[in-house]
Amino acid sequence: MPIDDLTAFGPDFAWGAATSAYQVEGAVAEDGRGSSIWDAFCRVPGAIAGGDTGDAACDHYHRWPEDLALMSALGLRAYRFSIAWPRVLPAGGGPVNPAGLAFYDRLVDALLEAGIEPHPTLYHWDLPQALQDRGGWPSRDTAERFAEYASAVAGTLGDRVASWATLNEPVCAAWIGHLQGTMAPGAADIGVAVPASYHMMLAHGLGVQAIRAAVPDARVGIVNLLTDCEPGSDRDEDVAAARREDGHHNRWWLDPIHGRGLPADMIEVYGVEPPVRPGDLETIAAPLDWLGVNYYRRSVNVADPAGRVPYTRQITPAGTPRTGMDWEIHPDRLEKILVRVTREYAPRSIMVTENGSAYTDTVTADGTVHDPERAAYLESHLSACASAIRAGVPLDGYFAWSLMDNFEWAYGYAQRFGLVHVDFATQKRVIKDSGHRYAEIIRAHRDLRAHRLASRSLE
Ligand code: FCB
Repeated sequence: MPIDDLTAFGPDFAWGAATSAYQVEGAVAEDGRGSSIWDAFCRVPGAIAGGDTGDAACDHYHRWPEDLALMSALGLRAYRFSIAWPRVLPAGGGPVNPAGLAFYDRLVDALLEAGIEPHPTLYHWDLPQALQDRGGWPSRDTAERFAEYASAVAGTLGDRVASWATLNEPVCAAWIGHLQGTMAPGAADIGVAVPASYHMMLAHGLGVQAIRAAVPDARVGIVNLLTDCEPGSDRDEDVAAARREDGHHNRWWLDPIHGRGLPADMIEVYGVEPPVRPGDLETIAAPLDWLGVNYYRRSVNVADPAGRVPYTRQITPAGTPRTGMDWEIHPDRLEKILVRVTREYAPRSIMVTENGSAYTDTVTADGTVHDPERAAYLESHLSACASAIRAGVPLDGYFAWSLMDNFEWAYGYAQRFGLVHVDFATQKRVIKDSGHRYAEIIRAHRDLRAHRLASRSLE
């Protein structure tokens, strides 16, 4: 990454890394935690590669002091993590479980003491099973319970946490969890997926209100996975397929939160009317302080009239570089998305809340992990961020996915995204070369800024 790129990042740029509760915590039956839809989904035969579960994951629930020391070693200024709803409200609603909330209380205090900003996300897919049993996201009640949960968490941590995200990637929780069926809760029906998606947006809006009521000066945002949707050919049907996929993946989520309502073209494609009640769209469109963008890869689409809604199929053209997980590598599309979102939706501030690559890393005989591809992915995407900033994007943070190898949902533990290697048998952590490279970049940026300040004071 050219040193010149570093000058694009502002002095308070949030250099971070991200994780999520179910993917790292383990300790699923401790201190009164209730069960979640992911605990249940991991028990469905064949649902998760290798029959893996998040029961132990990285044992972060117990080893967080060691993980915090790793964050400090990397020089992180910010840490994005998620709070497990079933730890705080084991039955989804009702009484708060103080022991569950206390875990995040300790974590937040320790982060602040280490000079690392906490960036919690309230929902990263681990819905309490008790709420699933009462209808889950297709039911409006779940959105209302989310507001109670948000209020309980913000009321406790809000005196120390400045930045809040409501939901992580509702696009995956709704479409992969309720339409494709390959994530929890494993439904595959557009008739339930549309109301589920709608109630997630409503939960976001109600959550924003609850957080602001508890913490008037909170900085509130939402995290969306955005993808540049391209046609696989210049045939009209493929161009239309790419437009549908963009609606499904991007506009369905971005339009309503920015006050544009639900995209009418997509309601027609779905053939299902979302259960909108008077006042909902205003709630969903409550002004935000920042927008989180997760970016991994582009999507190339061809029409698939006989396939699943929205009748598109993704192809992977030959000849493009890919990660170990076979995901195409296109840093320029990250810049394109950031510029597009800025131009079309004008968020006050943007943070890249996830970006990273998976490879099957191994620890070498001398105890190090050489992952030049991940380091290259990181640097090229940071350069794309720098170009986006120069193009006028109000980018205030970047969170590498992930701080450490973890439970990668339906892929189990086979796919490693971490800057830190985790040996899941022994729970030993080793900072990978890419982690050391990230630390160098963060340090170089700090030194550059310090140097600028010093030279200014000499003027
Ligand atoms: C994102 C998820 C995150 C992780 C990465 C690889 O879609 O938010 O939990 O699984 O993908």
